[in-house]
Amino acid sequence: MKSSRIPGFYNMSVDQRRKLLKDNYDLTDEQMSNLTDNPSLSLDKADNMIENVIGTFELPLGMGLNFVINGNEYTVPMAIEEASVVASASHIAKIVRSAGGFEAESRERLMIGQIQVVGCSNFHEAKQDLLDQKDTLMNAANDAYPSIVKRGGGTRDLDVRILNEDANSTYSQMLVMHIYVDTCDAMGANMINTMAEAIAPIVEEITGGKVYLRILSNYADRSLASAKCVIPPHLLATGDFTGEEVRDGVIHAYEFAASDPYRAVTHNKGIMNGIDPIVIATGNDWRAVEAGAHAYAAKDGQYGSMTRWSRDEAGNLVGEIELPMSVGIVGGATRVHPLAELSLSIMNIESAAELAEVIVSVGLAQNLGALKALATDGIQKGHMALHSRSVAIAGGASGEMIDVIAKKLIDQKEIRVGKAKELVEQYKQ
Ligand code: MEV
Repeated sequence: MKSSRIPGFYNMSVDQRRKLLKDNYDLTDEQMSNLTDNPSLSLDKADNMIENVIGTFELPLGMGLNFVINGNEYTVPMAIEEASVVASASHIAKIVRSAGGFEAESRERLMIGQIQVVGCSNFHEAKQDLLDQKDTLMNAANDAYPSIVKRGGGTRDLDVRILNEDANSTYSQMLVMHIYVDTCDAMGANMINTMAEAIAPIVEEITGGKVYLRILSNYADRSLASAKCVIPPHLLATGDFTGEEVRDGVIHAYEFAASDPYRAVTHNKGIMNGIDPIVIATGNDWRAVEAGAHAYAAKDGQYGSMTRWSRDEAGNLVGEIELPMSVGIVGGATRVHPLAELSLSIMNIESAAELAEVIVSVGLAQNLGALKALATDGIQKGHMALHSRSVAIAGGASGEMIDVIAKKLIDQKEIRVGKAKELVEQYKQ
């Protein structure tokens, strides 16, 4: 297992970073060509993925370093346009690895299919009839997608709820049947939708009602992944701030998010800064993950924090996260987009559950990165340092010149490309 701690990665050229990755992860020339080809996703493939294609859209792909999760090293590919995110995740992962790493878990992986039934003459009888025919319905769902049963998955359970029983409008009254499916290593949207559509006629026959919607629920609360870290305060000290001050600032920041939706949305956006880039880099459906995560943040009736930060008896900072994580490592774009395949290889991911564990750990790290900065120097200092580097590069700086020009831009409080060009010219003379 190669260490994800790669000192100096930040200062290497892109080619040097690629070479190091190739050597560290035994990537083949073909896999590397996917990284170096421009565009990595061929027009032909893209044209077959969606409609009305006119091109492909690139994002920077960076590596989140230093992650140790359940004792394993992970170098995490992150596709994102926002500066500071990858650096911040890597910074926190370095702190957490000194504290023993993240512990993550993904206990159950069941995806939910919903079938809406309306117009039953007696909803209670219809519900009972469906429950009486549970085995028939579950078998029919499995027959609609036999390959998942062969892979060891398939329907695991079924339940039925009556919604709006007492509503005046018959539009509102309905039965909702859920099928719970072990989709193995796939996200499973197509599988669930196929199963739900296949059993709809049987549901109508049993209930005497009419089925309208037959679709996956993105509220994947039977596919939860969680992660935890415990950090001694001395590892958190920064600048003029003691570790205890940082710890307390993080806990106060968490309590703010837990009590105020205005703050919680921004707090959670910061968590998704860590989650989405991996979901995207692995070819997964980030809208599904986003929708499920935000709904889960409101599960107690008020939209709140996706994480929880507290202190234990020894004074350590304890961070926890739990989110629905409907991701896969087979199916969808995960094996079509060449960079998704490469991302999974770099992480050496062997199951969807493992991917989910990595994703929530990075979300937790990202949250701590933001809270630590916000509770101490503020985020602009770090942002400006990174932004000034990009501006220096855009102004023509390269190699060791980048840091020199970036520092001058900050010192002169003029972080713009025109100024960077001027400074680059001066530097060259
Ligand atoms: C910016 O992309 C994310 C933050 O606003 C998150 C937060 O406020 O916790 C820094």
